[in-house]
This record gives sequence, structure tokens and C-alpha cells, in this order.
Amino acid sequence: MKHGTLTTDNHAALWHGRFKEGPDAAAVEFETSIYVDERMAFDDIKGSKAHAKMLGETGIISKAESSKIIKGLESIEKDLASGKLKIDYSAEDIHSFIEATLTDRIGEPGKKVHTGRSRNDQIALDERLYLKRVIPDLQAKIVKLIDVLTDIASDNTKTLIPGFTHMQHAQPVTLAHHMCAWSWSLERDYERLSDALKRIDYSPLGSGALAGSGLPLNREMVARELGFKGVTPNSLDSVSDRDYCIEFTSCFSMLQMHLSRFSEEIVLWATTEFNFVNLSEKWSTGSSIMPQKKNPDFAELIRGRTGKVYGQLAALMTMMKGLPLSYDRDMQEDKEPLFNALDCVSSCLTVFTYMIESAKWNKEVMAAGCEGGYLNATDVADYLVRKGMPFRTAHGVSAKAVRIAIDNNVKLEDLCIEEFKSCSELIDEDIYDLITPKACVEARKTTGGPSSEKVKSQISALKKFVKSCSPKKSTVKKNK
Ligand code: ARG
Repeated sequence: MKHGTLTTDNHAALWHGRFKEGPDAAAVEFETSIYVDERMAFDDIKGSKAHAKMLGETGIISKAESSKIIKGLESIEKDLASGKLKIDYSAEDIHSFIEATLTDRIGEPGKKVHTGRSRNDQIALDERLYLKRVIPDLQAKIVKLIDVLTDIASDNTKTLIPGFTHMQHAQPVTLAHHMCAWSWSLERDYERLSDALKRIDYSPLGSGALAGSGLPLNREMVARELGFKGVTPNSLDSVSDRDYCIEFTSCFSMLQMHLSRFSEEIVLWATTEFNFVNLSEKWSTGSSIMPQKKNPDFAELIRGRTGKVYGQLAALMTMMKGLPLSYDRDMQEDKEPLFNALDCVSSCLTVFTYMIESAKWNKEVMAAGCEGGYLNATDVADYLVRKGMPFRTAHGVSAKAVRIAIDNNVKLEDLCIEEFKSCSELIDEDIYDLITPKACVEARKTTGGPSSEKVKSQISALKKFVKSCSPKKSTVKKNK
């Protein structure tokens, strides 16, 4: 690899001057990061343009040099976007490649772009710019999924489905209620990302290698130019803080965990035993030996990839745990886990959305699941509470009725009035209308409850959220 050789050419390693001997080719191969950091090329150029502009305006370099640098960077940006310029993978990192290409193109002024700057503050800047650029795309995918889930919810406010605790029949709810439940988790995932974005909205540039600069850099000017809210407050912290990598990867992990849990339900619901959902053939796979098979592989893969995302978080936390201030090269290892986790959760979101959007819901099967599992036993107790009985006593009465029904292998609502009365004299004929699954659901009008009225207000709150987020779109073309 070229960057280790002692040439005077612009493409030698940025630091080659002090060395008599270049590093071994294997050493170069080991330390390079360009395969990972190339995706921040446009962010790197953006940062360099703002830096060069500031250098010109503060008189650290001449205005003419500053504008030559900016024009040179713009030509690199254009040629990279069009594919005319290819990344040279023998460069040590994306910063080296862009600086070398700049000097190739504009000569001497190119050698001034790194004035008052270190790759230590440059990489911290690039990562923040990159995240500020791509996180809105991920958030847009979350919003799209919430939109799809709430569409399903709107069509199913009266579609009964058994609710489970301990994976046992508990109380009836609706498919709409269930879809809204996952939508709220996703809404929190969205908000967590917005919150993390607030914390990276400060420019680290001007922190230099670790101790700022003796040159009259104007950090605030660069921050404004790049659309940051302000500048980071401490140069040592600026070059060695990777909290944001951990924080975003933690957000990705939680999001992936929600997709994984939901996927687990889809896998279960697609079984012959449940048969609640029929996945589209486009989003299912078959078996090489069993001709009849239609497998929910996409849900399984999403569930299966969750460990990888969590693994990235563990890698980052462990990589950082022993690092003294300030920059240590260990930190170069931050990008792979961050990007891996982001790419994984991003593709899982896309696939999950397609899969759920194209699924067909077996409404009769779900409704039938609410029958016969004594899901209305709490409602028998509540019936008695309404008649003044203490809940604990009512629980016992309902349990007695359940016992009789189990012993006779019938549903609760199949007990005759005499059998009910043998449990409590307070029970009258009106109980039969009040303990149908539909009545049980509709009675649950507590805020956040499953009654169609209450779920409709959840759906409209979620749709409002979707609408309020919808215009948010990243402006930059490349989101690798
Ligand atoms: N590739 C490095 C990283 O990602 C950039 C900073 C290099 N700094 C240094 N002093 N070697 O962290």
C-alpha cells in the first residue's frame, strides 16, 4: 500500500515526514480505516469547506487560497458523486484521500486546508455531521412503519384478538389495540433518536489534536456555517468523546429489540396453530425438501439479527472502557459497530414494514381465539363489583364459576343462570350480554384501553404524530 512509502508525493501518509522507514505493508493494511470511513466522504468535504472558509475570513490564509480550496473541494464532491473520481483505497483514511486529491487538483493551497486542524477533531466532526444527515432517514422509516401499523389499526378497531400474559389467554383486546401498542414503542424510538441528535449538535472542530489551537480560529463561525447549535466546550473532551456512538447504538438496539419482539409474534401468529396472519408470498420463503412449506424467514432474520446489533453496543462500550484522555487510536474502532448497527436496524425496518403491510389478517380466527379460554372471567368479577361486592370476593365468585365451567368443559357464558347463582345470588340474566368478548372489549373505556372509542383516539394521536414528522427528510443524496 502506498501510504506507508516514503515518497514526497501528495499521497504519502500525512505523517510520513518524521520517519526514515515506511511501515510494513501488513502494518498499513492493518491500520487503514478507509473502507469503513469512506461513507463519510461528503461530510468530510462539507467540514473542510467550512474550515477553509473560516481560515480565509479570519485571515489565517488568504481569501484567494480559501476560495481555491473551496472550489477544489467542490470539484471533488461533484466528481465523487458522479463516480468520475474513485476512492483510492491505499489512502490511510478518508481525510487523507480528500486532502491528497485536493492538493493534486489545486497545488500548494491544498496544503493549507489542514491548518489548525487535526484528524482527531476532524473525525469527531465527520461522525456528527454524518449522524445528523442519516438519522432523519432512519426516523422517516420509523414513521412509515407507524403509518402502516395505524392503517392496519384503523381497519381493525373491532377485530377481536386474545390478549396474552405469560403467553396464556388473558383478556380480549383488538388487533387495532395491539398495533397501536407497537406503534407507541416505535414513537419512543423516534423520540430517543431526536433526543440523541440534540446532544451531537455541537461542533468539535477547532479542538485540534487535543489542546485547541494557537491560531486565531473562529470555532463559532464554523459551527454556524455547518448548522450546529454551538461548539463543544472542552478540547480534550471533544476529541475523545464517543458517547454519541454508544448512545445511538443503544437507540438502535432498543429499536431492533422492538422489531424482534414483534417479529416473534409474527412467527407465532403465522403458525398453523395460531393462524392469525397470512404472510404475503413475496415476504415468505419455502423449503428445499418440504414442498408445502411457507416460512416466515424475514421475521426470523430480523429476530436473529438482533444479537448482532446488541453485539455492536457491547463492542463500543468495551472499546471505550479503559481509554484515558484524550484521543486514542482505539477510537477508530467506533465506526464499524456504529455503522453495522445502523445498517442492520435500517434494513430490518424496511423489510418489517413491507412484510406487515402485505400481510393478511385472519379476523375470524383471531375472534374465535377469544372464545373458550375464560378471557371474560375478570368481567364476571367486575360485574359483581358494579353491584357492590368487594373485588377480592368477586374474584372468588368468578373463579368458582370458571371452576364449574372447566369441570363441565364449557365456556363461562354457557353456564346456566342457576349455576351462576350457585356462585352468587347477585348474578342475573343480564350477565350474558356483558361477558361476550365484544362487550368485554367495549367496556374497557379507560384511557389507553381497548374499546373502539379509546383506540380510535390513540390512532388519531399516532396519525397526528406521523403527520408532524412527515416533512422531515434528509437533503443529502448519499445514505450508504
Ligand atoms: N482514522 C482515525 C479515526 O477514525 C482518524 C483520526 C486519526 N488520528 C490519529 N492521530 N491517528 O479515529
